[in-house]
Amino acid sequence: METLRIALLGAGTVGSGFVKLLDELRPRFRTLGLEPALSGILVRDPARPRPPWVPRGLLSNDAEQVLRGADVVVELMGGTGRAAGLVESALDQGTPVITANKALLAERWPELKPHALEGLLFYEASVMAGTPVVEPLSGSLRGNRTLELHGILNGSTNYIIGRMEDGLGFSEALEEAQKKGFVEEDPFLDIGGVDAAHKLTILARLTIDPDFEWREVRENTSGIQNLSREQIYAAEEQGKKIRLVASLYPAGGRWRAAVRPVLLPADHPLAQAALSRNALLYRGDAVGEVFISGGGAGSAVTASAVIGDLLRMLEGYPGHPPLPQAVPAPNYQPEPLEEVPV
Ligand code: NAP
Ligand code: HSE
Repeated sequence: METLRIALLGAGTVGSGFVKLLDELRPRFRTLGLEPALSGILVRDPARPRPPWVPRGLLSNDAEQVLRGADVVVELMGGTGRAAGLVESALDQGTPVITANKALLAERWPELKPHALEGLLFYEASVMAGTPVVEPLSGSLRGNRTLELHGILNGSTNYIIGRMEDGLGFSEALEEAQKKGFVEEDPFLDIGGVDAAHKLTILARLTIDPDFEWREVRENTSGIQNLSREQIYAAEEQGKKIRLVASLYPAGGRWRAAVRPVLLPADHPLAQAALSRNALLYRGDAVGEVFISGGGAGSAVTASAVIGDLLRMLEGYPGHPPLPQAVPAPNYQPEPLEEVPV
């Protein structure tokens, strides 16, 4: 057996889920002739209480020590600060990186893209957690010209809206989502629509333009922070549901991106994704409509995609490539979605 040395950056909701699943799936790595071993686990505070399966002796705030001799880096820290420097320097040294960090992917793309093209960057967990979208959009769905896509890409806001439909107030629902580990360290990223915008930017680079600008998505983003229960009930009286939807569609001869709360008929496929579930409705010229739905946040749900990427890498597949070249907006008229005034 050869040892596979994994440097793990972060042992929070997703990082601790990764440690647990890695141990449970050890036999699968052995079938590949590999014994996975964590070279270290980078955290801010090694003394903080953690689940019992996280090996305390490996926790450290010394990045150099954690990264030394690693065969692969698994980045589950989040943010565009310290994570950016560590990920970029690992990639510059030719070490593959697996990440769930959509903020980093969206905002530091010029630095990351060359490594994504080299096949060193794996990021299935960054969009819709363990529900596969990055892989199909960087693979089998490439046999299409994309016409439009719409997604519920943020589990926290979908959970909050669902709990408000059950009668909870906004703050109470947010607090519940935080306790379940769905919410980013800065909750504005979720409730302000920024996290969904990060994810939409990643999907745009896989489907329409490898250099789609983060700024262009961010400028057309609004969240649910001002959504009231009254608006949710009024929608229900009209047989509709409010959902935070991230969309990519052609209009006026160019591609548009938008994240905003919309009113959907209650039987719309996207309205069926309940609580922390996510959904993607993709339309391609050849395949027609494709609908993908599943868990969109949480410890094991997200860790499963990180392990999936690790196994994919060990089986010799490259990381997820962006689209090679931008494609012009098609001459296609999408059904408009009804926006909620916020
Ligand atoms: P989290 O619970 O806040 O955990 C973050 C971990 O990173 C903690 O262990 C923290 O250390 C460590 N960390 C953060 N900043 C650090 C720094 N400057 N130096 C050293 N260690 C640092 O976050 P999470 O929910 O697991 O999310 C991790 C990543 O996965 C994020 O990019 C997030 O967007 C993404 N993601 C999350 C979910 C989800 O459902 N939670 C789903 C998909 C993707 P301490 O423990 O010592 O504070
Ligand atoms: N905060 C994110 C969400 C985590 O709620 O969707 C999953 O990416």
